[in-house]
Amino acid sequence: MGNINAAASGQFTIGDDLTINRLGFGAMRITGKGIWGEPEDRPEALRTLKRLPELGVNFVDTADSYGPEVSENLIHEALYPYTGTVIATKGGFTRQGPDIWQPVGRPEYLRQCVLMSLRRLGVERIDLWQLHRVDPKVPREEQFDMVKQMQQEGLIRYAGLSEVNIDAIEAAQKYFRVVTVQNLYNLVTRQSEDVLDYCTRANIGFIPWYPLASGSLAQSGSILSEVARKHNTTPSGIALAWILKRSPIMLPIPGTSSVKHLEENVAATNIQLSDEEFNTLDILGRQEHLKPMAG
Ligand SMILES: NC(=O)c1ccc[n+]([C@@H]2O[C@H](COP(=O)([O-])OP(=O)(O)OC[C@H]3O[C@@H](n4cnc5c(N)ncnc54)[C@H](OP(=O)(O)O)[C@@H]3O)[C@@H](O)[C@H]2O)c1
Repeated sequence: MGNINAAASGQFTIGDDLTINRLGFGAMRITGKGIWGEPEDRPEALRTLKRLPELGVNFVDTADSYGPEVSENLIHEALYPYTGTVIATKGGFTRQGPDIWQPVGRPEYLRQCVLMSLRRLGVERIDLWQLHRVDPKVPREEQFDMVKQMQQEGLIRYAGLSEVNIDAIEAAQKYFRVVTVQNLYNLVTRQSEDVLDYCTRANIGFIPWYPLASGSLAQSGSILSEVARKHNTTPSGIALAWILKRSPIMLPIPGTSSVKHLEENVAATNIQLSDEEFNTLDILGRQEHLKPMAG
């Protein structure tokens, strides 16, 4: 691929000083089926990671539970010492097998998560550590207080949350500065609109996970593929271009295990949707979101 660079997506500064290109990379897909174990094609996973800096992708999202451990270990193998790249990781989920995820928010466990991520990533401080889930079985104040303590001790630089509502963000802000929120969001999955608007107002980075799940809009004949044809790109490219245009604090992290798809996703930063295209897709996406689920 020719001249493509994630810098075209624009920049965002996490906290006071971690400036990144807005289009990042989600490192959940470089693991085995069910986000369990080693990836099917390990050399390709490493090639994909090594291609990131060449393409200007300098924001990588991972978690201790991806694999578990596999994603962080591969990132270390491919990218250490991470010059100019921000590695954001998460903790607070335990794994009992493929596709099984159980939150554990006991403070001593959260501390272990951070200490083990530090060891695997080979760093003394994690640039951005996100509480993967607020565990409903543990008072949230205890979880937030541990994040605060780890920040004060210098184990983590900045802290973020994942899958939270505005009430939880405001409760956490009493303990530490919430610099990012990572929630499920894409053109047709819009239940976090209020959180997104809140983050936009507060200049909190919003990391939409599953940004490519464009559902029925991605099928041939849909409005997404029509716009894609016009821009000579793929429906997933349009889904990313739309999400990037939605808000300047949006930091999408499309996940892939292949260099080809990574390059396609970075190329989406060159797509300029007109306001009319953006609005048409916006309305359509909201309508899709309101449709009852099949089955
Ligand atoms: N906070 C949370 O609770 C949470 C939950 C889930 C995910 N995440 C994070 O969010 C990131 C993104 O979410 P996600 O990976 O679930 O969803 P996604 O990025 O929307 O989609 C990933 C899927 O799309 C495929 N894909 C990627 N680029 C493509 C392209 N150009 N053309 C066609 N297919 C393409 C990938 O397959 P190939 O590998 O074949 O390309 C993969 O199966 C994750 O990697 C992870 O870091 C966070």
